[in-house]
Amino acid sequence: MAMMRSDRRGRVLWGLGRRKLALPVAILYCSLFFLAGFFGSMLFSPKGHSGEAVPRTRYMEMADDGGELLAMPHGESGDPNPHPIPFQVLSWKPRALYFPKFASAEQCEIIIKKAKTRLKPSTLALRKGETEDTTKGVRTSSGTFVSASEDSTGTLSYVEQKIARATMIPRENGEAFNILRYEIGQKYASHYDAFNPAEYGPQKSQRVASFLLYLSDVEEGGETMFPFENGANMDIGYDYQQCIGLKVKPRKGDGLLFYSLFTNGTIDPTSLHGSCPVIKGEKWVATKWIRDKKN
Ligand SMILES: *[C@@H]1O[C@H](CO)[C@@H](O)[C@H](O)[C@H]1NC(C)=O
Repeated sequence: MAMMRSDRRGRVLWGLGRRKLALPVAILYCSLFFLAGFFGSMLFSPKGHSGEAVPRTRYMEMADDGGELLAMPHGESGDPNPHPIPFQVLSWKPRALYFPKFASAEQCEIIIKKAKTRLKPSTLALRKGETEDTTKGVRTSSGTFVSASEDSTGTLSYVEQKIARATMIPRENGEAFNILRYEIGQKYASHYDAFNPAEYGPQKSQRVASFLLYLSDVEEGGETMFPFENGANMDIGYDYQQCIGLKVKPRKGDGLLFYSLFTNGTIDPTSLHGSCPVIKGEKWVATKWIRDKKN
């Protein structure tokens, strides 16, 4: 404020340079500008129908319908309105994105109900030389595959379309949903979703990315872990049963997307991941594996 008094605009404003008055007057002007700005911003902030200021989360829901965003003329296969999908980058190594509130609680419950009656112990794709006996305990969840066409409520279809929008990889590249339940103590040791041809033999198509929709909260444990995130733990002789690294705590309705391949098509070693044992509660998750070729 002392500086304002001596700059040109200051002298024009307060002309006669009455030094004793200048400082209080400057403070008064500053306060007036502040108050004008404060009330002005309230005037132009988003309002609900009842006139109260709308909290940020509610505002984003409104934007989700495209209500607050201006549409652009679109192509034949485009959408009529913008559909913002909030996301948080969790990591670049591997490329992992978190989607808060991707699906509603009600949608999650419908999916669980659909899968519940069909659960069987989860199986593994076996490497050369592996058998069901040698891999016992690696993956202890129960699960079932459900395709969107089998769900007459349209919920899986909705989720599938939204995943296609979020990834811009067509729906046809996705496998059927693998819906999994982990009870207390159940887990999935660290593994890759992509198939290394050196271990699994030649592949007709490759898994590019995985989308996990958490269908339940888990009281304790059950995190999705990335032990090699940002190159960590890669040279310690990591024990694949251990739950370390970046851990993502399941939250009902939230989505997690990560890419198993680099943009050049080779497997990203940091995409190694697993499911920590559930300690308290139950974990439900719908997994969509996305391939480089149509199914
Ligand atoms: C593919 O990309 C990764 C990450 O940029 C790089 O480390 C790797 O050497 C590349 N591999 C080939 C075969 O180009």
